[in-house]
Amino acid sequence: MQKDYLTGLEFSPAQTEGLLDLALLAKQQPEKFQHALSGKSIVMLFEKPSLRTRMSFEVGIQRLGGQAIYLDHKDERIGVRESIADYARNFSVWVHGIIARVFAHQTLTELAKNARVPVVNALCEKLHPCQALADYLSLKETYGNLKGLKLAYVGDGNNVSHSLLLVGAMLGVNVTVLTPQKYACKAEWLDKAQTLAAQTGATVRLIHQPNQLGQQDVLYTDTWVSMGESKSASELERVLKPYQLNETMVAETGAGHVMHCQPAHRDVEITSALFDSNICLAMRQAENRLHAQNALLLNLFNAA
Ligand code: CP
Ligand code: NVA
Repeated sequence: MQKDYLTGLEFSPAQTEGLLDLALLAKQQPEKFQHALSGKSIVMLFEKPSLRTRMSFEVGIQRLGGQAIYLDHKDERIGVRESIADYARNFSVWVHGIIARVFAHQTLTELAKNARVPVVNALCEKLHPCQALADYLSLKETYGNLKGLKLAYVGDGNNVSHSLLLVGAMLGVNVTVLTPQKYACKAEWLDKAQTLAAQTGATVRLIHQPNQLGQQDVLYTDTWVSMGESKSASELERVLKPYQLNETMVAETGAGHVMHCQPAHRDVEITSALFDSNICLAMRQAENRLHAQNALLLNLFNAA
């Protein structure tokens, strides 16, 4: 049994597939799981704003019979008033789990090292693993089988792109990341995804020219300016303009669906009409945050 979920790599490819199956089961038969987290309290420690992650965890935990406590940490970084290790030790005497959205991945590893309870990554500067679980759950519902599906992430090489690479490679999805050279995803995560892809028969690749995309089943984008970024927003918008997810890109790749983790910036990284179109899975992705995360919690708490 895994204690934490910080990168997504804590779960093997087979266990990750199992999470999606459990998510589908719990989505279809919620009554079976309504007391699964009864008596459990989970803290949500957030250094950055959130709509979807906060809502889906809070409502999701409630539906499993547990209690979520939101601790707003926007005004001061975790570790300033007292050490991160002491945060972890204190939480461990009150709650059964810690869900954290942080500026630095290091904060998560420090929490996990010192907590006796599970720690879940609710987004950091490097990764957003819960988002990727919900995204592939949405594709599993839509396409049935994920093996061999072609997904291209287009835009800034950020936390979401890294998690799509890692989780996608585990699930047998052929993931392409298209970014300008300057804003490429990090080699560290691409390399790890390549190793996983070799095990599952998937392919992963990083490209820099939109005309290299070829045929794709799904196109995915995210904001060009992530929370806490030091990169200049105007420079990002100038360089990323040719990487906008728009009707032309959909037509050229033959993609059947587009995805966005939200919040969306209409007519910036995606055209407003495409975001509102019936090929856009954004609201299904948002809905499935709850189901994917509940499957993860059931697993971490051995409550399935
Ligand atoms: N997609 C996502 O994580 O949204 P929030 O930032 O609103 O939580
Ligand atoms: N890449 C974005 C994702 C928001 C859900 C960010 O980190 O702000």
